[in-house]
Amino acid sequence: MDLQIEDKTAIVTGAAGGIGRASARRLALEGANVVVSDLEGVSARRVVDEITGQGGTAFAVEADGTKEEDVERMVEQAIEVFGTIDILVNNIGGGSGMSLLVKMPVEVWDKTVEVTLKSTFLACRAVAPHMIERKQGRIINISSISGKVGESLVGAYSASKFGVIGLTQVLAKELARYSITVNAVCPGYVWTEGWARMAQWMKENFASMADKTPEQIFEQRVKSQIPLRRPQTPEDVASLVAYLASEEAGNITGQAINVDGGAIMV
Ligand SMILES: NC(=O)c1ccc[n+]([C@@H]2O[C@H](COP(=O)([O-])OP(=O)(O)OC[C@H]3O[C@@H](n4cnc5c(N)ncnc54)[C@H](O)[C@@H]3O)[C@@H](O)[C@H]2O)c1
Repeated sequence: MDLQIEDKTAIVTGAAGGIGRASARRLALEGANVVVSDLEGVSARRVVDEITGQGGTAFAVEADGTKEEDVERMVEQAIEVFGTIDILVNNIGGGSGMSLLVKMPVEVWDKTVEVTLKSTFLACRAVAPHMIERKQGRIINISSISGKVGESLVGAYSASKFGVIGLTQVLAKELARYSITVNAVCPGYVWTEGWARMAQWMKENFASMADKTPEQIFEQRVKSQIPLRRPQTPEDVASLVAYLASEEAGNITGQAINVDGGAIMV
């Protein structure tokens, strides 16, 4: 399938590792010019080297996606270097630690909502005027299956990911008149640094997991939760991101699509 995104410009946030990195690489492989944005500048530049090494075009922006001025700068640089922004992939997100919602410290709540939901709002708000002007665009927000079914012990994360789907639907309605589509992708279980950090935390804090490695904790979750009994890869998620970014997906908007091996069927 020809995705027809050659020479389009894509911004991918949180693109230095995991799902963001795979999405940036895949969009570049399909011919897009990619802005690799991340808090970690050194790792972002490494991803740019990978992309240019494959013959693609990319540059890195070190930016904190939760800070309005950083996000504005990221958008300005993208336009300066590539001239337009056609595709925005909002991939930043995550929580810290696990606790019952009623015992969650307010700082953990605030930080999680900021990283997961506010970052998505800020990037959409900064990019939308450019897409509106050109009457075209694709916005893809990375949510989670925890954004469709409440997940205990990660309440702030789960609520934020529900919020990402809500924001996606609102923007899909508000931007439809400009031929801009807005969709969410909901990954299941993807072994990344983010998951490795969480599994390590579980090992250190739950007696029942103390004798397991982080990888074993992840594998156990995969076997018990996923009908297809295999984890998702960053590339599995990137495939759907690339499709939603393509011309082929022009009549799909306001959707939240799972890449989860059947873990949830809603
Ligand atoms: N891994 C999974 O199983 C899984 C499942 C469902 C949803 N997701 C979602 O997919 C997305 C990517 O997940 P991942 O596992 O690849 O994450 P990860 O933690 O491995 O990578 C996240 C990247 O975002 C960057 N980042 C974090 N905070 C940032 C900030 N404030 N500004 C700029 N960059 C920042 C990090 O430096 C890192 O490069 C997240 O939104 C996550 O919630 C992941």
